[in-house]
Amino acid sequence: MPAWGVQEAYGLVWLAPDEPLAPLPDFVEWGLDGFDGFWNEPRRSPTSAAQLVDNFLDASHFPFVHTGTFGTDEASLVVNEPVERDGWQVQTTFDTWYKNFDDPLVATGEHPEVQPQRLLKQGTAGYSVYLRLAFPVTGATFSILFCCQPETATSTRIYKLMARDDLGGDAARIASTIDDELRILEEDLAILERYAAMQVHLDTTECHTRGDKLSVAWRRVLGDLLRATAAEPAEVVVDLPAASAADSVVDEPHAGTPVVDATSAAGLAHVSADAVAEARR
Ligand SMILES: [Fe+2]
Repeated sequence: MPAWGVQEAYGLVWLAPDEPLAPLPDFVEWGLDGFDGFWNEPRRSPTSAAQLVDNFLDASHFPFVHTGTFGTDEASLVVNEPVERDGWQVQTTFDTWYKNFDDPLVATGEHPEVQPQRLLKQGTAGYSVYLRLAFPVTGATFSILFCCQPETATSTRIYKLMARDDLGGDAARIASTIDDELRILEEDLAILERYAAMQVHLDTTECHTRGDKLSVAWRRVLGDLLRATAAEPAEVVVDLPAASAADSVVDEPHAGTPVVDATSAAGLAHVSADAVAEARR
């Protein structure tokens, strides 16, 4: 059976079995003058794509998950701008702190090791996450696109693409950054792969706090996706807290909760009705 479409972008081949609901994610820095582009080797993880996206959109785990790399206690307070939604995408910008361990001027004492960071995070219904890390102290921009390709409910291939404007084509620094970014990814996976269940809930089974606003907004996108594409919409019940009440939510768990655990392999490229049907099995 022929695919609806195939496209090459950011060094990847993207395939849509059916007509997509959303475009490919933007990664404007890829190939841009002044930016070096590189990637980590694809990494297969025994987790769900939904769980991975939920993690990559989070900013509250930095101080206790990334203790061996950029995490620092100063990032314990999560401060973000209002969450914005545009179609099948949500985003916000965090003001946070980062242990800038690969800034050469830290060693000379010209820059502090812990530096402020403006961190844009965008999540799409197609299981991609775009990050743009801006460092006011160094003036550098470092952008990352995570593409999470679901294979099954508990297996995902992670493609981590990066573009950075402060390396000047230096092969040694690029190689060092690739190693560092693999260590950062492995810090996340060391936690996520221990979970007993890999589903992401679309209701109030889990306790949400202010720091979860972006993740909750993304789960609402998934809920809308299920409603928009379900063969029998009445079967899809999504019960996330209302946007106006998202500041702090604590609810008792209850049975029969809707969850999202994976889409078909097509989820890497585009969100399709078939992918959602697969997710509901
Ligand atoms: Fe992380």
